[in-house]
Amino acid sequence: MRSADTASPHGRGWLNRFRTLATALRRRPTVFAAATVAATLAAGLATAAPARADTTLLPCDIYGAANTPCVAAHSTTRALYVSYAGPLYQIARQSDGKTRNISPLTTGGYANAAAQDSFCKDTLCTITRIYDQSPLHNDLAIQGRGGNGGPDVGAPADALPVTAGGHQVYGVSFSGQMGYRNYNAKGVARNGQPEGMYMVTSGTHVNDQCCFDYGNAETSGNDTGNGHMDAINFGTECWFQPCVGTGPWLAADLENGLFMSSAGPSQNSTDRSMRSPFVTALLKNNGQNYFALKAGNAQSGPLATQYAGPEPTAGGYSPMQLEGSIVLGTGGDNSNGSVGNFFEGVMTMGLPSDAADDQVQANIVSVNYGGPTGIVGTLKPGSEISFETQAPCCDSFFIAHDGYNSNTTSINAISTASSSDELGNATWIVRRGFADTSCLSFESRNRPGEFLRHFNFKLQRGFYDGSIQFADDATFCQGKGNTGKGKSFTSVNFPTKFFRTYNYGVYVAGDGGSNAWDTTIGFPKDSSWTITAPLAP
Ligand code: AHR
Ligand code: AHR
Repeated sequence: MRSADTASPHGRGWLNRFRTLATALRRRPTVFAAATVAATLAAGLATAAPARADTTLLPCDIYGAANTPCVAAHSTTRALYVSYAGPLYQIARQSDGKTRNISPLTTGGYANAAAQDSFCKDTLCTITRIYDQSPLHNDLAIQGRGGNGGPDVGAPADALPVTAGGHQVYGVSFSGQMGYRNYNAKGVARNGQPEGMYMVTSGTHVNDQCCFDYGNAETSGNDTGNGHMDAINFGTECWFQPCVGTGPWLAADLENGLFMSSAGPSQNSTDRSMRSPFVTALLKNNGQNYFALKAGNAQSGPLATQYAGPEPTAGGYSPMQLEGSIVLGTGGDNSNGSVGNFFEGVMTMGLPSDAADDQVQANIVSVNYGGPTGIVGTLKPGSEISFETQAPCCDSFFIAHDGYNSNTTSINAISTASSSDELGNATWIVRRGFADTSCLSFESRNRPGEFLRHFNFKLQRGFYDGSIQFADDATFCQGKGNTGKGKSFTSVNFPTKFFRTYNYGVYVAGDGGSNAWDTTIGFPKDSSWTITAPLAP
């Protein structure tokens, strides 16, 4: 059990200074970015200077200029060509079955998420189509039955709210049984033709099930044999043992195997797990005798090559036998147990140059995925906050989720010694309430797409799966603090129960009731919170 003795010995002064610093850094993003790059270089971690972002060119302009044009360009967050003004994705709402296209706000700009919000107000929406921005119109529709599983369902449209380019937009959050496909794409590599592809995904929403993929797959939806796929795979499934570390890893799904090298397993002795909230994952394959895997943090720095060498040595992969269908979120045969996040991805005809890949990564970094929204310390959707308890035990204790692998929450002491992980675990992004838009939901800053929800009346973090149960369990309504100061929050489905700390855990609790945490002793202070500026810068 945690003890109150671990509370900060520094009193409140340091915390106020910390908040002032965090606010100053937010107001001066370029200074902060420069400082981060300088620190990275000083630490000797950067192997090459990242290419300077050319903000006038977007990923498909860059690949086009390098003679490897996009033959597919999918994103729910932004245009991938400077000249693109068409639809990004289509949503359908449950209330009346109507659909609506969501387009960029401006030509070459970011998604008009506000249009989605108003169309989906007080109902559930799912993503029914992700449009291809390339002239080939290789749109992705919800995937049908495959050799192994399905038919799939569409992802909930509002499960993955993120910031991109300073705009609030939505990524696609996949639970199992979700997937998209274009069975007969035009212009995509076939047989031994060369191609490249990347996707921006998350290192925080992964599992070890087959197969969170984006790329080239079978036109039939069946496993038609070695070399019939060339898709990025991202997750913790280790197909060829051993894998180094705990993952998630980048691999090439070339069918009947997730390859990290020609032999299968990783050839890197160092841990290549990619746990950052936003990851760029890239695969290219000349279709004959070479493939390469590159990955990087989508929020900063360059791509690193994880493998570049011959095709797999097993039969069928050299040359490749590509069929030119496009898959997103499942294996080639629609194996659909995997979970994952998707923000954007493209496929090219021809093997892209490393210089073009670097320029694309620089452009992705310039988007500032997940970056601060600029609104802090209020309960307005989009604002970032921390919840400081008013419980007398616990000066400078905040609601936090307990680390990478645990979904539980508690109140944790935050001090100058707290790591950036601990600060991020105690920082929440205010969202419109899933179940009631006049109330709120709270998304983890460190774990995009994961929200505070109660389960068995304990507060924890979890992925929105589109269910009414989750929406209810993750929606809370604010009111004046039960102490008369700050705020208190009731659960939308248990309106007499409040966020309450008890024994350093956090619960939804009544002022009296059958659970230990419903005790009336200390209830007003234990259920009142001071909303502060976000602890994570
Ligand atoms: O290659 C891994 C997976 O194996 C493929 O995605 C799927 O088609 C097969 O089950
Ligand atoms: O937290 C109380 C209930 O416990 C939730 O509504 C439900 O998801 C779980 O059974």
